[in-house]
Amino acid sequence: MTGAGGRVGGAALRALVARGRAPIALVRDPRRAGSLAERVEHRCCDLDDRAGLEDAFAGIDALLLCSGHGPDLLGHQLNTIAAAQDAGVRRIVKISASPASVFEGSPNRAAANHREVEAVLAHAGVEYTCIRPNAFIQGVASSRAAIADGELPLTLGDQALSWVDTEDVGEVAAGALLAGGPLPEVIPVTGPQALTGVGLAEILTAVTGRHVLYRALTDAEQQNRLRAAGAPAWLAEHVVSIFALLRERDGDRVTDAVEHWTGRPATPAADALTRDADKLGLELATSMQEEIRT
Ligand SMILES: NC(=O)c1ccc[n+]([C@@H]2O[C@H](COP(=O)([O-])OP(=O)(O)OC[C@H]3O[C@@H](n4cnc5c(N)ncnc54)[C@H](OP(=O)(O)O)[C@@H]3O)[C@@H](O)[C@H]2O)c1
Repeated sequence: MTGAGGRVGGAALRALVARGRAPIALVRDPRRAGSLAERVEHRCCDLDDRAGLEDAFAGIDALLLCSGHGPDLLGHQLNTIAAAQDAGVRRIVKISASPASVFEGSPNRAAANHREVEAVLAHAGVEYTCIRPNAFIQGVASSRAAIADGELPLTLGDQALSWVDTEDVGEVAAGALLAGGPLPEVIPVTGPQALTGVGLAEILTAVTGRHVLYRALTDAEQQNRLRAAGAPAWLAEHVVSIFALLRERDGDRVTDAVEHWTGRPATPAADALTRDADKLGLELATSMQEEIRT
């Protein structure tokens, strides 16, 4: 499993362990992997290292292809596919980008990179599927300071978005890694309902116990806000452009993929945020803390 130390890869790994499997995690540095490297078998290699990857994939039957998005994603993932082909990997499950963003000529660079990887995978001579998750609900925590001040700043306008829990995405990936029979080329994965900015702010109010109001930003305001908070230019551009696509191209679509691949309903945003509040640096309402204790 590549990306096993990350959010989606980590969730896929936990799901496989919960199903009694013994996944092997690829880590670039066991010190960075922390307890992961102690809990499961791991092999060390950087996704930059094409030859090292081929050695690391020896004897591997099915591979999770997942790496953090950023300027290196394309090179890393193409390296991984080439090494997996040469090592004789039979099945690859790729974590791609949001269904709204992956299409020919997508103006979003990360989505265009994911699409290019998907196209290479389609001709790699392996069984494969491309999981396209909608925006991760955990991503709202990047606005944790504003949320603590009672504001949810997004460039969603009046549109709704079917935010998805990263644990659900990982569980779907685990299901696809283990599934018998042919896989669909694409699995669009969403949360259970589409939420407007106002709807999500109400959920954050209930979860944090602070009155949170949605603040609809323009793209330029968001870009300036992210840059002022220290985000690199590529990330600020990415966030603005991905939300433009989510607004304009069915970011509110809801699929039944979680139920289909895991046998249980998709996790509501409120439950995912409450469960992960500590990790995400979100303050929890006293009533929620009591609910968790009981
Ligand atoms: N954010 C969203 O809303 C969203 C929506 C749809 C799709 N996606 C896609 O979902 C994917 C997974 O996202 P995520 O949040 O789970 O990512 P993440 O938490 O940032 O995890 C990325 C993983 O990739 C590993 N990695 C990065 N560079 C590496 C390298 N050079 N060699 C070896 N390993 C490397 C990291 O290892 P370390 O632990 O060593 O850093 C980490 O385990 C991304 O490709 C993203 O584009 C995101």
